[in-house]
Amino acid sequence: PRTLIPFVSLFLGPSDGLHSHSLLLDEERGRLLLGARDHIYLLDPDNLARAPRKIYWPASRDRVEMCKLAGKNVNLECANFVRALHNFNRTHVYACGTGAFHPNCAFIEDGVFQLLSGTVESGRLKCPFDPLQPFTSVLADQYLYAGTSSDFLGKDTTFTRSLGPPPDQHYIRTDISEDYWINEARFISAHPIADTYNPDDDKIYFFFREVSWEGNDKSILSRVARVCKNDVGGLRSLTNKWTTFLKARLVCSIPGPDGVDTHFDELQDIFLLPTRDDKNPVVYAVFTTSSSIFRGSAVCVYSMADIRAAFNGPYAHKEGPDHRWVEYEGRIPYPRPGTCPSKTYDPKIKTTKDFPDEVVSFIRFHPLMYRSVYPLTGRPVFTRVRVDYVLTQIVVDRVLAEDGQYEVMFLGTDAGSVLKVVSITQENWSTEEVVLEELQIFQVPTTILSMEMSSKQQQLYVGSGQGLAQVSLSRCNLYGQACAECCLARDPYCAWDGHTCSRYVPASKRRARRQDIKHGDPASQCWDTEDSIRVEERVLFAVQNNSTFLECIAKSQQAQITWFIQRPGSELKEEKSYHCRSCLS
Ligand SMILES: *[C@@H]1O[C@H](CO)[C@@H](O)[C@H](O)[C@H]1NC(C)=O
Ligand SMILES: *[C@@H]1O[C@H](CO)[C@@H](O)[C@H](O)[C@H]1NC(C)=O
Ligand SMILES: *[C@@H]1O[C@H](CO)[C@@H](O)[C@H](O)[C@H]1NC(C)=O
Ligand SMILES: *[C@@H]1O[C@H](CO)[C@@H](O)[C@H](O)[C@H]1NC(C)=O
Repeated sequence: PRTLIPFVSLFLGPSDGLHSHSLLLDEERGRLLLGARDHIYLLDPDNLARAPRKIYWPASRDRVEMCKLAGKNVNLECANFVRALHNFNRTHVYACGTGAFHPNCAFIEDGVFQLLSGTVESGRLKCPFDPLQPFTSVLADQYLYAGTSSDFLGKDTTFTRSLGPPPDQHYIRTDISEDYWINEARFISAHPIADTYNPDDDKIYFFFREVSWEGNDKSILSRVARVCKNDVGGLRSLTNKWTTFLKARLVCSIPGPDGVDTHFDELQDIFLLPTRDDKNPVVYAVFTTSSSIFRGSAVCVYSMADIRAAFNGPYAHKEGPDHRWVEYEGRIPYPRPGTCPSKTYDPKIKTTKDFPDEVVSFIRFHPLMYRSVYPLTGRPVFTRVRVDYVLTQIVVDRVLAEDGQYEVMFLGTDAGSVLKVVSITQENWSTEEVVLEELQIFQVPTTILSMEMSSKQQQLYVGSGQGLAQVSLSRCNLYGQACAECCLARDPYCAWDGHTCSRYVPASKRRARRQDIKHGDPASQCWDTEDSIRVEERVLFAVQNNSTFLECIAKSQQAQITWFIQRPGSELKEEKSYHCRSCLS
């Protein structure tokens, strides 16, 4: 059952819908910026309901008129939808909006929270024209990296770099001459990640799905790709184009008994869970099926080591447009295509302009790696099939519990709900997917478009067309009034403290906290408490030969309900064979 939860606070925006398109959570400065239609809101992450400060940034009247003439929807398309918000430096934020199909970007001055109108510039190649097209951008060292469409029709999709400290400001992008670099892509996320201790090796990893002709048929496949941060393009060819771009397929499938796998091919969201080694975050990915036969979603987990292994492996080769991709077995030029230039490796190759011509022409025709990247456990850690919704968003929290560390996933759906899930590995390495809570955040079914988590505040921010909601990461008190109920819930955030089911704090030196995430066995935890065998009894009067409504609501997703019937004059309690949560009897 989905719990309709009391959110901590809610921001609805104007009466005709929020049209939230970007979120920037800044935990350090305790603020939350929300990019929406013609507005940027400055919200208080402690209480979204508090009246926000706002910047009004509409599209120009001419552009709105032209957008209407082009047959676009006045409310949903012909306005300035703010799609990118980034901290640029200590005093300025960089923002981009669609500008009624004429994208613009500008700086916002933090202190006064004002748009600097003198800084408005074209947002082409930085921001999509279309408010609804998937898009991603990331700002690193004052450079803006964006995966976006670059034209009105949204056909040409590209990964670009722009901005940067002057005088370095020029665009660099993926090549368009070959459609197998990036083809009708939908960009999901981009992340700066160091590869080695040498800063010259620093890369931007990005994730997208695209239309591919890898088999004989046109299909949608998901990708991980990367470029070197110090790529400045080629000298004679690929000028102002990436010369270090490589991509590999990201596979998420369930092995079938007959060797036919069920594939989840359409990447929807990525979350990077940090580890102690910042070169090796854990990559969580949400996929859906592209199958018209059934709807399903899956979460797959990847390691950076496996991703790097694919990029260090063989290249894929295509002889011509009518040929299939095969493993490239010819000579590989030096330096290995995709390697970042570095004086440390070769004093003659200081920048990508020093690459020999054959390296540049090799990368033009071999951007795809032959080997795919497979999930860590060989299969998804969580799947949902044959349900009336799909997964759209993911954030992951690492939670320390009494019996170890758990990764708790919060999964947004297209039905306005969020699933809270933990995948538990047993001693024999089998894993168990446990749905801890199913929270109906928005009453009207609506797609969850964005999610941000604040570990510091223990809050989750959930955005949709309906509004932005703030919910707590846990609601331990809802698991009931008994040790056994708390234990059975198996929620790593919660433990029985002797009186109530409450937030588990690992550092606390309080008396033993009762918690058993791995097995959820109350007998091992609550044996000495009175409640473990307590049964709630309720007497209900009813009219003979008439129906009476009986109800038993489970407090946790882990509870199982069994109905018994005891007939008049009989001592026997007979188990009813049917399953129901509420029965007419
Ligand atoms: C931040 O960037 C803006 C825009 O380039 C610039 O005007 C401002 O001086 C910078 N602030 C600092 C502290 O560097
Ligand atoms: C692993 O242990 C669990 C119970 O702890 C059991 O349900 C499962 O069948 C076991 N799996 C294997 C492969 O032995
Ligand atoms: C209830 O129904 C049973 C069987 O249908 C019948 O024997 C009995 O007389 C009924 N009792 C009353 C109070 O109507
Ligand atoms: C039977 O129950 C319904 C409601 O459950 C009630 O409206 C009705 O009056 C009852 N009939 C008798 C005969 O008591």
